Amino acid sequence: ALLGIDLGTTGVKAALFAAEDGRVLTDAFIDYPLYHPQPGWAEQQPSEWWQATLTAIQGCLERASSLGVRPSDIRGVGLSGQMHGVVLLDEQQQVLRPCIIWADQRSDAQCRWMTERVGAAQLISYVSNPALTGFTAPKLLWVRDNEPEIFARARTLLLPKDYIRYRLTGVLAMEISDAAGTCLLDVKQGTWSREVLSAIELDPSLLPPVVPADAASGSITDEVQALTGLPAGIPVAGGGADNACGAVGNGIVEPGLALLSVGTSGIVLAHATSPRVDISGPVPRVHTFNHAVPGAWYLMGVTQGAGLSLRWVRDNIGLPERALERWTGVDAYETLAREAESVPAGSEGLIFLPYLQGERTPHLDAYARGGWIGLTASHDRRHLVRSVLEGVAFSLKDCMTIIREQGLPLEQVRATGGGAKSPLWRQIIADILETELVTTNASEGPAFGAALLAGVAGGVYASVPEACARTVRIVERTAPNAALAPAYRQAYETYRALYPALKPVIS
Ligand code: XUL
Repeated sequence: ALLGIDLGTTGVKAALFAAEDGRVLTDAFIDYPLYHPQPGWAEQQPSEWWQATLTAIQGCLERASSLGVRPSDIRGVGLSGQMHGVVLLDEQQQVLRPCIIWADQRSDAQCRWMTERVGAAQLISYVSNPALTGFTAPKLLWVRDNEPEIFARARTLLLPKDYIRYRLTGVLAMEISDAAGTCLLDVKQGTWSREVLSAIELDPSLLPPVVPADAASGSITDEVQALTGLPAGIPVAGGGADNACGAVGNGIVEPGLALLSVGTSGIVLAHATSPRVDISGPVPRVHTFNHAVPGAWYLMGVTQGAGLSLRWVRDNIGLPERALERWTGVDAYETLAREAESVPAGSEGLIFLPYLQGERTPHLDAYARGGWIGLTASHDRRHLVRSVLEGVAFSLKDCMTIIREQGLPLEQVRATGGGAKSPLWRQIIADILETELVTTNASEGPAFGAALLAGVAGGVYASVPEACARTVRIVERTAPNAALAPAYRQAYETYRALYPALKPVIS
């Protein structure tokens, strides 16, 4: 068996898979809080991640033992995680402050400073990406500028899942597909960019070694064995960024394949055999990152608020359903989706902009703001919900369009993530993208990809593509409904016009 751990934004999942066919044996999910100390800020406590991870591993192993799977059957552990967060450790490897996570938008001034310092074009040529508030380096510079006493004590920068690696193995390392999202990695070479580090006066000793995704980076310690029952000495693979692991788990390991994921954020990602960069405008609108497949890259568009937007609706407009959930057992999301289904495509003119935490693709604007436009007295709550599902799909269409413009072949799009499990939302996305969406058996999300990487590290599979060929299967297809294309195209046109029209008055 192989254990995959995915440290997400809402919680951590530990899942155990059968190595021979990728079948899910057991899983456990434990959530943890997300703190917004100020508007636009987003932080989490690494100690809460770690406690949740231990509980998830324990839960997973307990259930496994009732199925007759013993800890000694586990051949390796793989880590996946939310990207870009800043975890700072002091000399004693103690966490210095809460992690500033990917969704945090506070570092716009640092992005501008960094771009000026390095030079806009030089920055892209060094790290293949612009400085964005979502990425790690600007957040790190924010700490240097605003909390100098904390920064002075910092000795190591880690990303969220790499902190979990440290706790599991005692090894300080950053895995390559995640390191790509720091804005400090030479994505073409897979090494830290000395040019960028020296231009922004960052001590290279803050950065741990870069390790590959599919090889052992360390092994489970005796202490972790005592805490969880995982056997000491089994390998912990480099693992990957959540989107890279989502791609591996869905078999996106060769040209022509793309992944569309609807988690807290939404992404469209296409496999690439070279580190090509969107150079159609002054700033690349999609990211170029190293894949968890050695020697491969991917292009990715990101919409910051996908599942996040629907969660906001559930928690603020779907309050009665949320309260009833406990008594009826009916998921509030399901009730809301059922209502939304009764509204025609295009939500009768109501448009939702999903920019609740700024936007990356296509606007690259930390100050973009969300909202509904076109509300009339004849709209009701059903329209509010449906327009959110559509607005997120429009944003994903922006991502897909830009990726297509890069000339990458997109022969098949595979859908994943909690949001894509909703048949209605999946259908809306397929209709708006006018593209068939395929779903695979990777129902556990990035944890599955992480487990496959562990299988390569543990010698169960010869390579990542071989791991996918042995375990990934297509289970369902969602065909676009061509009859709805005209209504959606018209709504998309309005959607596209709204951001530029509103920008002067909003940000
Ligand atoms: C990608 C990104 C998000 C997080 C979500 O660049 O910031 O998709 O990885 O976990």
